[in-house]
Amino acid sequence: MVSRAVQLEEGKEIVVTSNRIGLNKAFPFKLLLLLGFFIAFSVAFFIISVSTIKFYGINSVVTSVKSSFVPCRVKPDDIDRWTKPPLVLMHNMSDEELLWRASFMPRRKDYPFNRVPKIALMFLTVGPLPLAPLWEMILKGHEKHYSVYIHSQAPSSTEFPSSSVFYRRQIPSQVAEWGRMTMCDAERRLLANALLDISNEWFVLLSESCIPLFNFTSIYGYITKSKHSFMGSFDDPSPYGRGRYNDRMSPEVSIDQWRKGSQWFEVNRELAVSIVEDTLFYPKFKEFCTPACYVDEHYFPTMLTMEKPAALANRSVTWVDWSRGGPHPATFGQSDINEELFARILKGENCTYNGENTSMCYLFARKFSPSALEPLIHKILSF
Ligand SMILES: *[C@@H]1O[C@H](CO)[C@@H](O)[C@H](O)[C@H]1NC(C)=O
Ligand SMILES: *[C@@H]1O[C@H](CO)[C@@H](O)[C@H](O)[C@H]1NC(C)=O
Ligand SMILES: *[C@@H]1O[C@H](CO)[C@@H](O)[C@H](O)[C@H]1NC(C)=O
Ligand SMILES: *[C@@H]1O[C@H](CO)[C@@H](O)[C@H](O)[C@H]1NC(C)=O
Ligand SMILES: *[C@@H]1O[C@H](CO)[C@@H](O)[C@H](O)[C@H]1NC(C)=O
Repeated sequence: MVSRAVQLEEGKEIVVTSNRIGLNKAFPFKLLLLLGFFIAFSVAFFIISVSTIKFYGINSVVTSVKSSFVPCRVKPDDIDRWTKPPLVLMHNMSDEELLWRASFMPRRKDYPFNRVPKIALMFLTVGPLPLAPLWEMILKGHEKHYSVYIHSQAPSSTEFPSSSVFYRRQIPSQVAEWGRMTMCDAERRLLANALLDISNEWFVLLSESCIPLFNFTSIYGYITKSKHSFMGSFDDPSPYGRGRYNDRMSPEVSIDQWRKGSQWFEVNRELAVSIVEDTLFYPKFKEFCTPACYVDEHYFPTMLTMEKPAALANRSVTWVDWSRGGPHPATFGQSDINEELFARILKGENCTYNGENTSMCYLFARKFSPSALEPLIHKILSF
């Protein structure tokens, strides 16, 4: 065994040695040949390069090198980019950029994915949301059918917990003044941000003092089965209606096209796009409807009545009490919350819904102060 191993070792050694000898013998001739080829190739390459640069110019050579470069980390584009909502609501778009982006509208009737239409609940607030617990109760378990957006002029320093329906739902916000165009700007900003989620089909404007009057199933059914959008719109001949019209708005808007309506609307996707895409009426209202013309009560009702009259219910689904008089509606606190108040809200009026008479005219109500939270929680538990 030992002698065989040695033999094998020796055999190897012999082969290697003989190879080395052969290489040594061939060395000078082969190397010279190789060197010759290399020099010839280099000269040829140099000549071709120089003539190419002369012919095409140095720029196009550089450009062609650049354009053929493909970064290896680029993910191929897919439909998710258009069908999935943005992961984070905060963005760096200016209003102009945002409104432009939000005005994109698909023209095909059907969607190439399973689209579950959602209601966008858009909270236009000054500060925090004291009645948030009510909305948490109403919305919990219905995540597939709603999305929440908050436009807050003074975002509260305390963040909502990650389990909250309000967690990270704040959009880039700016100051909005009551009765001024900055208020409509804020509403358009909410609509535009909500339009970025293709699944949002209905858009409800709410405030921090708004409460829901029914459970989510009833609210969703009422809005989704309605043939009309709930935008208040009527012709008010008084000084508080037609009296606020300015002749200089013509020819875009005439006095008989002038409408008034509550700021608290519900619109479908088509109307929401009409609002964000408008560049015709916006400058007229901005310039000629300033206090005592309260633009947030006139701009959208007038514009939509002119553009899409048949789409409007001409009434709001947000109840508000003007019976106490004055420029602001009544606010209800803890001691006001009782069965009489709810009877007044829920049974006090008749209206039409898809052409039928009904006493179910309102889905939301305002204004409720933070002190009303406790009794309202008990009320909502009974829905
Ligand atoms: C927005 O821009 C600022 C600086 O211009 C940057 O610090 C920030 O990360 C950007 N935010 C987003 C969401 O892109
Ligand atoms: C919601 O309220 C309606 C009546 O308004 C009731 O019939 C229905 O059962 C309630 N749904 C849930 C899930 O509580
Ligand atoms: C709302 O008003 C417009 C015109 O002012 C009208 O065309 C439309 O039919 C009204 N909507 C309903 C539901 O009556
Ligand atoms: C609403 O209509 C019902 C029946 O049609 C009637 O009983 C009720 O009094 C009406 N309510 C009001 C506030 O008009
Ligand atoms: C609805 O009520 C009004 C009166 O308030 C009545 O004139 C009308 O016929 C009713 N419509 C229907 C469809 O019942």
